[in-house]
Amino acid sequence: MTDCLGDGAGDMTPMDLYEKLTLQGETVRTLKTEKAAKADIDAALQLLLKLKVDYKQVTGQDYKAGCPPSECSVSQDNGPAADGEDMVDPWNVSTTSAKGVDYDKLIVRFGSSKIDQELVDRIERVSGQKAHRFLRRGIFFSHRDMHQVLDAYEKNKSFYLYTGRGPSSEAMHVGHLIPFIFTKWLQDTFDIPLVIQLTDDEKYLWKDLSLEDCHRYAVENAKDIIACGFDVNKTFIFSDLDYMGASPDFYRNVVKIQKHVTFNQVKGIFGFGDSDCIGKIAFPAIQAAPSFSNSFPQIFKGRKDIQCLIPCAIDQDPYFRMTRDVAPRIGYPKPALLHSTFFPALQGAQTKMSASDANSSIFLTDTPKQIKNKVNKHAFSGGKDTVEEHRKYGGNPDVDVSFMYLTFFLEDDEQLEKIRQDYASGALLTGELKKSLIETLQPMITSHQERRKQVTDETVKQFMTPRPLDFNF
Ligand code: TRP
Repeated sequence: MTDCLGDGAGDMTPMDLYEKLTLQGETVRTLKTEKAAKADIDAALQLLLKLKVDYKQVTGQDYKAGCPPSECSVSQDNGPAADGEDMVDPWNVSTTSAKGVDYDKLIVRFGSSKIDQELVDRIERVSGQKAHRFLRRGIFFSHRDMHQVLDAYEKNKSFYLYTGRGPSSEAMHVGHLIPFIFTKWLQDTFDIPLVIQLTDDEKYLWKDLSLEDCHRYAVENAKDIIACGFDVNKTFIFSDLDYMGASPDFYRNVVKIQKHVTFNQVKGIFGFGDSDCIGKIAFPAIQAAPSFSNSFPQIFKGRKDIQCLIPCAIDQDPYFRMTRDVAPRIGYPKPALLHSTFFPALQGAQTKMSASDANSSIFLTDTPKQIKNKVNKHAFSGGKDTVEEHRKYGGNPDVDVSFMYLTFFLEDDEQLEKIRQDYASGALLTGELKKSLIETLQPMITSHQERRKQVTDETVKQFMTPRPLDFNF
């Protein structure tokens, strides 16, 4: 890294700054792909963040990769806002706060809407079911057009669910289950079809993996997804590598989308650079296509007007901003979205969990003993250094990872609130809090493993065969 990049913004033109920022973005990406030392990556990131703040000061606009200052009117940047340091895109999440990403700011920056109490109440009213704990607790915190979906549903117009997973390894951790647990609840609650995209093509393009491995991971991951309890008569799971070639209607939609999105647009949204392979540049159309019902003629009988609702983690939003932008131009309804927060790593809420670090998360294959050891050893604690101090001043549940995990998985609201209060007052010690978490996770993971064992290759094949589902469209 050259020192001059760190100079103040004072005498630089917007174009100078823009070019420095673009260069610095490349530097960060290169360091990451080359797996450089964490300190180097962090330093490069800090500089990138600083440049973005300078850029905003000088131009009054957010920096948008691929979009030089004079050309840009609307900005859809995913990088840090001028007043914060969180960075969220489909491949990177970083923040400097122990509480994690500031989600209210993300809503403003992404231009989505907050899932407020009114919407939670409305979902309960319309569905006649108690809201899922992920809704009650703000884990699904942001949405696009959910009111519209409910308006239509009240008038007996149905919709379908679309979610997905990028199969980058055989090992899935509990964080990966969040969208699926919630999607299962939505499917049961509204009784609607569900399509699940396994982007083995995406992982091949982005990671150093063979096509065969990516496809194998897709099938292995499908088993964990099926073990969440999806109904085979209402759910279609597909690997892109298989379905793209098998479905002319799907591929036609991919091509339509590709024709209506420019390189400049994807550069702006995803930050692609000149040295990214063309597969990456074309890929967003493949993740967009399942948002349109005529990509699945076997399910929707060729209809193109069935509304789609996508539950996903907020880092996937760039794909669907693009999708929503292109939809009206090719004559399709825009998909609606429900966004979740990130599941924190055991070490703290600064980052997403990584499937490549065995100690950063609880894996679906962990034994009860491993779960106990990991939580006790690695779960970042908001407790005080000594029992005396803890009793006196209390712990901080807001940064305590064991408490955060309990908000995801402990069903009982009252019990959770009591734990929060007792921990904050010092009545509950860190060891006791961790014990509650261990006792919540162990049976949950064990029963997942038992359900997964029941999933045979034949079951996977059933879910992954294109076929009509139990709905009449
Ligand atoms: N890109 C996602 C990932 O890497 C996978 C994905 C495809 C997805 N389609 C989706 C996730 C729809 C959520 C919703 O994990």
